Formats: sequence, C-alpha cells, structure tokens
Amino acid sequence: MDVLSLLSFTVTLLAFLSPCLTTPTPRVSFPLGVPGRRLTHFVRRDVSNTTTLLLSDDEETLYVGARDAVLALDVGRKDAMALRGQLDWSPSEKDREQCSMKGKKMTDCPNFIRVLQFLNTTHIYACGTFAFSPHCTYINSETLTMSSKLDEGRGRCPYDPYQRNTAIIVDGELYTGTVADYRGNRPVISRHLSKGQHVDLKLDDTLGWLEDPTFISTSFIADEEKIYFFFSEVGREYDFVDKFIVSRVSQICTSDVGGQRTLQRRWTTFAKAQLLCQAENELPYNVIQDIDTLPPAEGAPLDDTLFYGIFTSQWSVNSGRSAVCSFRQADIKSVFNGNYKVLDRDTLRWSTRVREKVANPGECGLHNASDNALRFVKDNFLADKTVRPAGRRLTLVSAEHRYSHLTVQRVRDYTVLFLLTGTPRGHKDKSPAV
Ligand SMILES: *[C@@H]1O[C@H](CO)[C@@H](O)[C@H](O)[C@H]1NC(C)=O
Ligand SMILES: *[C@@H]1O[C@H](CO)[C@@H](O)[C@H](O)[C@H]1NC(C)=O
Ligand SMILES: *[C@@H]1O[C@H](CO)[C@@H](O)[C@H](O)[C@H]1NC(C)=O
Repeated sequence: MDVLSLLSFTVTLLAFLSPCLTTPTPRVSFPLGVPGRRLTHFVRRDVSNTTTLLLSDDEETLYVGARDAVLALDVGRKDAMALRGQLDWSPSEKDREQCSMKGKKMTDCPNFIRVLQFLNTTHIYACGTFAFSPHCTYINSETLTMSSKLDEGRGRCPYDPYQRNTAIIVDGELYTGTVADYRGNRPVISRHLSKGQHVDLKLDDTLGWLEDPTFISTSFIADEEKIYFFFSEVGREYDFVDKFIVSRVSQICTSDVGGQRTLQRRWTTFAKAQLLCQAENELPYNVIQDIDTLPPAEGAPLDDTLFYGIFTSQWSVNSGRSAVCSFRQADIKSVFNGNYKVLDRDTLRWSTRVREKVANPGECGLHNASDNALRFVKDNFLADKTVRPAGRRLTLVSAEHRYSHLTVQRVRDYTVLFLLTGTPRGHKDKSPAV
C-alpha cells in the first residue's frame, strides 16, 4: 500500500518584512491527520512507489508516475482527489525473468516511472526503469493511452530504481541528468529528442565534469535560455577531506549544438559551481536534498529569482538536522561569469591559477568558436567562486527535522515554505492556507 500524501508536514511562514530576523525556526508544524487542517490524500492499495509527479498547467490534473503505472488524478476540487485514469505499463514476464537472472531482486524488476514531462499540448513523455532496461514512451494526456512507439531510455532514465535522476522538457527537447549504464557509474547530462538544427548532446568524458553525482532537479532559466541542474557530488577540489560532498549548480545553454571538431556532439556550454549553505564558523550543510524556484515579485527583475534548497550535512554532529538556504539567480550568474579553476592533469589538483582567458566558459553561442577556445572551455568548467546564500545567511535551521522536500510560494508580502519529512510526495497544490 502506498499513500499519496504526507507523513509529517511542516508549514513555515517566513516574514521577510523584518530584516533583523536571525535564522528562524518553523512557525507552524503539524503531522498529517490533525483535525482542523484539511489535507486531502489519495490511497490505492494496488499502486506503489509513487515518486514522479507532474501537474497540468491549469492545475486540474496531477499525473503520478508509480510502479508499473501512470495515474491521472483530478485535483481541481477542494475536498478530495479523484482518479481520472490509470495507464498500466509494465515489463513482460520474460523481461522480468531476465532481469532477475542478471542477479537483480525481483522486487526491483518492475517498471518504476522516473521521467514524466509534457512534450507538447497533447502528449506526455514518460520513461521508466523497465526491468533494468530503461524505456520511454509517449502518452496521450487526455485519454491516458500509450503510443506503440517505445524509445530506448539509456541516458534518459536510470536502470536502477534506487538511483536519482532529473529531467525537463523545454521546447519539445528532453534534458536529463542520470546514470547511463547498467552498473550505474557513468553519470551524464544530456539532451535527447533534439529538433531542427540541434543534435543530441552529452557531456564529454573529460575528467571531473561530474564526480559520482546525485541529481536533484533542473530548472529552465528562460531569460538566459539556460538550464540549471542541481546535484551533489564529490568535491575533488577539496583534497584535504576524503569524499567531501559538495552541492552544485551546473548550467548548459539550450542553443548549444556542440563544437565542429573539438567537442563534437558534446556540450560547449557546461559549467558548474558550488552552492554553499553554511553559517559562519559552522560546518556546512553540504548535501542538497531538494530545491524549488521562487519567481521574483511582480515587476522585479528576473535576476531576483530565488532558488530555495533543503540541505543536510554529511557529518554526524549534524545528523537529523537540516537547513534551508536560498540563492539568488544574480549571484549564480555572476559566479558563472567569473574565473574558473584549472585542473592539473598530472597531479589531479585544482588550482585557481589564472590563465589567459581564451574564451568565456559557460557562455552561450560557442559552436563556431576556434578549437583553441573550445579546448579552453573543455578544461575550465569549475567556477572559482562559490555561490553564497542570499543575504549571506541560512533561511532556516531545524534541529528536530530532516526535511526531504520543499515547495515555496509567495503570498503577498510573505514567503511561505512547505516542508516535508518522509518520502511520499504530492501535496504541492493541496497544502492548507496559512
Ligand atoms: C505531440 O507529440 C506527439 C508525439 O510526437 C505527436 O504525435 C502529436 O501529434 C504532437 N501534438 C501536437 C499538438 O503537436
Ligand atoms: C517501493 O516501495 C516499497 C514499499 O514502500 C519499498 O520497500 C521499495 O524500496 C520501493 N522501491 C523503490 C525502487 O523505491
Ligand atoms: C558558423 O560559421 C559558418 C561559416 O563561418 C556559418 O555558415 C554558420 O552559419 C555558423 N553557424 C552558426 C550556428 O552560427
């Protein structure tokens, strides 16, 4: 049985009106089922592992990716969620037997839906692990029927249902962060379903582009035509600690078509930077768990967009705690526009040695750049500066809760954070008014 609702739920109201506010703690906190707090939930005994959600533009329908199924829930009504339709999509008996023969547990061999994105106004693109042999398909969002056409899902969806991935469709093209092999040790950020002049692109195998990442989410930055990927990975630039985890934001440009000789069919616009959620003189909350975007207030510049993230710590002194930090788009931009670290390929050490700048890493429109410029961006992808939280402080620290998911909304002069502990997701639009 699975419950598409909340285990324990905390609503946090942050009044940004008082600038002297030091790190606040959650104001209102309540578990599921408290009288007077209406939280709708939806239970079906035959549906489980509901991990992927997609809300329609009109906010009437919530599509849920589950184990061997995609559900459409009617969420337009205030009092209850109703099932509008269900599409069953599972591997055959034979597929599952093969999966099990390869040494996988039978319970991990179903089709766990891990990508669910609108492709256009009539169709959803969905991918699932499909018995450790990922596949993708097109689903009519109205009738919830699947096209007979199956795409191979390599690079679009993980093989292993326990590995995290992220995906976004922009202008009908699919951008993903996932591992692209059966063993789960070839992480890649790539573009699929490329249209027109575009070709499918992926990361080069260059040392250090990704270091054992855990992908969290993606965001389309419309004004810059860039896509941000949020993830954590091993921070090799810190060679004083073994396996120090860092949180990252990385970027690519949607206009990228790869290089002509150097970086052919590879990103020419990949760059990454560290996101640091840390209070002065304390250990950082270094492991990003979730992130959500708060668009700027009406009339404010897009640079004021904030990314709110939940962070936990890899050290036991902070176990069970979590922090929320927000990052300004303007700060992320300025870090990407700055200098880049250099990796010495012999010693495998990073330095901030400033070389003559042959190109601007992370800049869009490098497809016609010289080989020399492309070799430079290929080697200079780790921004030298770190992105610090807005206002240089943590938004919130919770000593009792280890949050896993958040949603942020602007309600008049307030910023409201909905924080969730536990695993089930699916409350975005059904949260009580504060
Ligand atoms: C959406 O994409 C699907 C799959 O490619 C296609 O069959 C359908 O015609 C498209 N719909 C529109 C409105 O373009
Ligand atoms: C699916 O759900 C079951 C029951 O909650 C859980 O034990 C299992 O680990 C889940 N599988 C995946 C791949 O998340
Ligand atoms: C690249 O340069 C060639 C000739 O120098 C030009 O024909 C082509 O349109 C350019 N491509 C792009 C994408 O700007």
